[in-house]
Amino acid sequence: MDVPKDILEEVERLRDEIEYHNYRYYVLADPVITDEEYDKLMKRLIELEKKYPQIVTPDSPTQRVGGKVLNGFRKVKHSQPMLSLDNTYNERDIREFDERVKRILGVKSVEYVAELKIDGVSIALRYESGKFRIAITRGDGTEGEDVSENIKLVKSIPLRLREKVDVEVRGEIYMPVDEFKKINEEREENGEPPFANPRNATAGTIRQLDTSVVAKRMLDSFMYYLVNPEKFGVETQWDALEYLKKLGFKVNPHSKLCKNIEEVIDYWKEWINRRKELDYWVDGVVVKVNSFEHQKILGETSKSPRWAIAFKFPAEQARTRIIGVSMQVGRTGVITPVAELEPVWLEGTTVKRASLHNFEYIKEKDIRIGDWVFVEKAGGIIPQIVKVITDLRDGSEKPIEPPKSCPVCGGKVGKLNPDEVAIRCLNPHCPAKLKRALMTFVSRDAMNIDGLGEKLIEKLVDSGIVKDIADIYYLTPFDLAQLGSGIGQRTIAKIMKEIEKSKSNPLERLITGLGIPLVGKKLAKILAENFSSLDEIMSASEEKLVKIEGIGEEVARSIREYFDNEKTREIIEKLKKAGVNMKSNVKKSDVLKGLRFVITGELSRWSRKEIEEFIESLGGKVSSSVSKNTDYLIVGRNPGSKLKKAKELGVKIITEDEFVNMVREKAKDVKLPEPKGPMTMF
Ligand code: IVH
Repeated sequence: MDVPKDILEEVERLRDEIEYHNYRYYVLADPVITDEEYDKLMKRLIELEKKYPQIVTPDSPTQRVGGKVLNGFRKVKHSQPMLSLDNTYNERDIREFDERVKRILGVKSVEYVAELKIDGVSIALRYESGKFRIAITRGDGTEGEDVSENIKLVKSIPLRLREKVDVEVRGEIYMPVDEFKKINEEREENGEPPFANPRNATAGTIRQLDTSVVAKRMLDSFMYYLVNPEKFGVETQWDALEYLKKLGFKVNPHSKLCKNIEEVIDYWKEWINRRKELDYWVDGVVVKVNSFEHQKILGETSKSPRWAIAFKFPAEQARTRIIGVSMQVGRTGVITPVAELEPVWLEGTTVKRASLHNFEYIKEKDIRIGDWVFVEKAGGIIPQIVKVITDLRDGSEKPIEPPKSCPVCGGKVGKLNPDEVAIRCLNPHCPAKLKRALMTFVSRDAMNIDGLGEKLIEKLVDSGIVKDIADIYYLTPFDLAQLGSGIGQRTIAKIMKEIEKSKSNPLERLITGLGIPLVGKKLAKILAENFSSLDEIMSASEEKLVKIEGIGEEVARSIREYFDNEKTREIIEKLKKAGVNMKSNVKKSDVLKGLRFVITGELSRWSRKEIEEFIESLGGKVSSSVSKNTDYLIVGRNPGSKLKKAKELGVKIITEDEFVNMVREKAKDVKLPEPKGPMTMF
């Protein structure tokens, strides 16, 4: 269908108008129309684009709504490297930077632009004839990723510039403080790990494949770099910032043109205190030589320009006291000591607790209850103890001891291996680990119960409906419905069906799902192959377990400990009652099926136990005395009276080598066990 000329004109006019109002609202924060009027313009544009889909362009404001699912991000080369900056932390170093700059330029004084260093993610934006074309991440500096679809959803990024120029600009995408806090609260509620800092949150958002997630997160931007400024007759960084503003970009309003380095230092000092006023995080000042001609002379190293430097702010510290220590047990059982602090105000929040990481950290820093300490926020967010003020000790301070038992379940604690720093609760059934244990149980490699996701598991545990993994098999549709999580009847029916189906899973899946410490998918398979049922595994001795190829002493001990646990037996019993399959369907070799063996004398290859187990693993039977039912007597050196008896009864008598040959003949691929134990005489 041809598009009438007047429609084309209207569409163009609408796009310009909408972009102008975006600019007024998101860049200047000074709207000139009401929300209703804006919505009306947008509605009309959507209507026309729906009617004439061929007129949709990537720079249309309708493309800012999200909802697409991307396949990935295409790699794109940068037009010129995206460098990073050297850091300095104090006045002496920044003066040294100034000295070096002046020396290279051979001048007495240099003008600088001081800009706030935004804690976000850098981005390169290219425009053709004033229209947005592509947004590229920094990547490794020479090559980044095309994240255009996501960047278009950042409302302060213009899709149409105020001049029809071909231009590349660079700057920062960031997440405002409130947005960051909101997202982290949501993540914690959903049991997801919070973002450590706004930069990570921004980076994570920009690389989202589901653009509707990006559309929901209110990212913002500041541009600060003009590529090829000479093309536009721009000679200084200060003018470049002005030009970026003129083109319609959001430019940070707090930059300052400084006559010399002293003014830069004053600016830095001023913003150390004032940074709290901002609704975005800044972690320092970027100092840039103003003149582009000077910048050119100074040039750059392979990593960073010699004409700019990051002058970082010191992390704020607060002094407070440790009034106690609590122990947190994480989902993997790791016990983390947490210092309870006398509440103290730091960088905008009241700090009451600080992680002490682990007991070696406490020992190293000699942290005690009652100590006065300095706290700092790592990455601007997580409170940390940076120093103990030992001078303020009065002798009443108490050392912090590692717990002797789990603070949640009272179970045994220890390290999984000697190199590990963390102390864990070793009880596989500790309630602190339940959610994680359930996730393992339902996971794809284990019982593969589709539909029982993390959120549902959280709710089932929090509501007290599920207290151990076996409780899954006692869930009713009513239990699921009353969780109030809005799951519909159909989903409930599907989950119930999945649970039912999982009851007939092969044994190895159940073993994987039990989450026996040190036993993963591979070992679960080995166990299922070597035993006919879970009962058989449960009653296998440590010695028997280590004989199995692939099972070492540590694993054997762990399996034994797991099954010796009373709670384990209770859970297995519940699973059994629910009808969960406990039998191995891995066919044991039946090379020696139906044959009865008796052994006499000293064997050269194996201990008696080893050969017995080998025969049994091939389906044969071993008896201690010869009878008419005996098929073979295996004779070693110095045979006993059994030999005589066998001769009398006409039982076939074979040597150890003949036995081996017989087995090999019957099945070429049978693996002979390695001799392990000492020789046994009998
Ligand atoms: S200029 C070649 N200006 O800091 C100079 N960078 O550690 C390029 N940043 O990768 C950087 N605010 O992501 C510049 N006003 C600002 C900045 C800024 C934040 C970031 C940027 C850069 C990093 C350098």
